[in-house]
Amino acid sequence: MVLKLNNMSFGSQKLPSVVVPIIASSGSPKFFMASPLRSASKKVENMKKTSMPHQEVQVQVTHSIPSQKIEMFKSLDKWVEDNILIHLKPTEKSWQPQDFLPDSKSDGFYDQVKELEERAKEIPDDHFIALVGDMITEEALPTYQAMLNIVDGIRDETGVSHTSWTIWIRAWTVEENRHDDLIVQLSEIVIEFTLLFLSENVQDVKLENKPFRIFIYTSFQERATFISHNNTAKLVREHGDTELAKLCGFIAADEKRHETAYSKIIEKLFEIDPGETVQAFVDMMRKKITMPAYLMYDGRDGNLFNHFSIVAQRLRIYTTKDYINILEFLVGRWKVKDLTGLSTDGRKAQEFVCELPSRLRKLEEKAQLAAKRAPTIPFSWIPDRELKL
Ligand SMILES: [Fe+2]
Ligand SMILES: [Fe+2]
Repeated sequence: MVLKLNNMSFGSQKLPSVVVPIIASSGSPKFFMASPLRSASKKVENMKKTSMPHQEVQVQVTHSIPSQKIEMFKSLDKWVEDNILIHLKPTEKSWQPQDFLPDSKSDGFYDQVKELEERAKEIPDDHFIALVGDMITEEALPTYQAMLNIVDGIRDETGVSHTSWTIWIRAWTVEENRHDDLIVQLSEIVIEFTLLFLSENVQDVKLENKPFRIFIYTSFQERATFISHNNTAKLVREHGDTELAKLCGFIAADEKRHETAYSKIIEKLFEIDPGETVQAFVDMMRKKITMPAYLMYDGRDGNLFNHFSIVAQRLRIYTTKDYINILEFLVGRWKVKDLTGLSTDGRKAQEFVCELPSRLRKLEEKAQLAAKRAPTIPFSWIPDRELKL
């Protein structure tokens, strides 16, 4: 597969022909804005339709945390300053997407772009799909920041709050933003459509605006993205693209810092309120940790995330085994087995989560077999070709 620098970088206005049916069939907002024949109300109606998630989203429970627990989170502000903000990298020492891309002002710019494209040609289609899916998971930044900013006790109440929680939220968002900036620079227009649809859609991770749940979710999810980017780095290195491997490695290192910060917060919560924390752990595991991009959509494949997941499972970039390993790791990291003084419900939750890894291991083989038996389908990310799932 050929990676191309975003068409904007070349000043080219030419759209690949594959984009046309996507626009026509999906009713992209861009299409409506460009059409003078439609009435304003029709435009709004259609804009609303395209902004609806393409999969059903369940009715959400909201603001279910009592006020004294909200106060408890607010009182942790100094602890966050001393223990969590230290995991942020100073902006001036951070890598930036342009560090990995040809410099458009340099004499050799076009040769460097050619070289980048030639290198990427060696990457097989399935590896490319996995790489794009990984990177798209980094997208929809406004949604991720909104996810933290609706959580009671930690959210930014004014937009300019200067609590340690809100400093973390903003800085974490900036770091994640670097990850998706890179794919936008490297992507073709067909991939950008997936990014646009994902940004318009919602996230449905059933957090009830509860900080206990959000930090279980982010601890799990950051470790998952660390594993996934790391495995992608190994794969592309095997195909000779050491530069791309290096880039995936840098992103993985960021995810590792994020994982450390979030799992430290849960460690602290286990110390302060083990009953509520173990309950939140079980709640999130019963609902299953869904990746933030599971509502990704390219305007045609309503099952796009599942199809990408099957490829990732087959290539062993992110598998059922990884999911179970993360769970087992976190149970150990937070010493859930050693919790004492729990209520009856708390003890039941403790038992459930400690036994869950071995129960899930039985499903692991099935998932790998299913990935091997999957059919061949077209992916809009690799126009004009099909891929065996
Ligand atoms: Fe990320
Ligand atoms: Fe991250």
